[in-house]
Amino acid sequence: MEARDALIILHALGAAILLGSVTLAGIVGFTKTLGEKTLVFSKLVNKVVLWSVVLLVATGILLVAPAKEGFLGDKLFLTKMGLFVLSGIIAQGIVGFKVRQAKSEPEQVAVYQKFGPLLTLSSFLLYLVAALGILLTLR
Ligand code: HEM
Repeated sequence: MEARDALIILHALGAAILLGSVTLAGIVGFTKTLGEKTLVFSKLVNKVVLWSVVLLVATGILLVAPAKEGFLGDKLFLTKMGLFVLSGIIAQGIVGFKVRQAKSEPEQVAVYQKFGPLLTLSSFLLYLVAALGILLTLR
């Protein structure tokens, strides 16, 4: 197996963990009444998301490095990066910021309730990012 193949496998693993955890969080968000238990769950999901993003960005950079010029001029790759950043701004910059600002756990639950649709949008963008990633590999 070449090093690049191993990187792609790790990258795809990171994508599976990321998409799996945001999907699970979405299902719990839609089917359970938000309360203290779901808040503990949201915080756990946050950690899994953080580490899968670290893995994705690290392996992504290593995949791009050998053919930097090609990728940086590639509309498909740039669209993928744009959607990834947008999804991060929505989930961490807007919702995450409000959750961190909330002073008590009931307030944090209220933020998750209010911004549920935005989190769904951010997850949807991540699915698009993965789909574009697969297109990049297949091309
Ligand atoms: C800084 C962030 C990222 C960079 C630089 C990056 C870069 C890349 C590159 C260059 C490829 C194509 C590899 C090839 O030439 O075959 C790729 C594939 C892929 N990317 Fe990313 N990526 C990033 C983030 C993400 C994220 C956040 C996701 C998921 C939500 C993702 C999902 C995928 C998938 C599913 C593939 C296809 C892997 C396969 O075919 O098995 N990437 N990525």
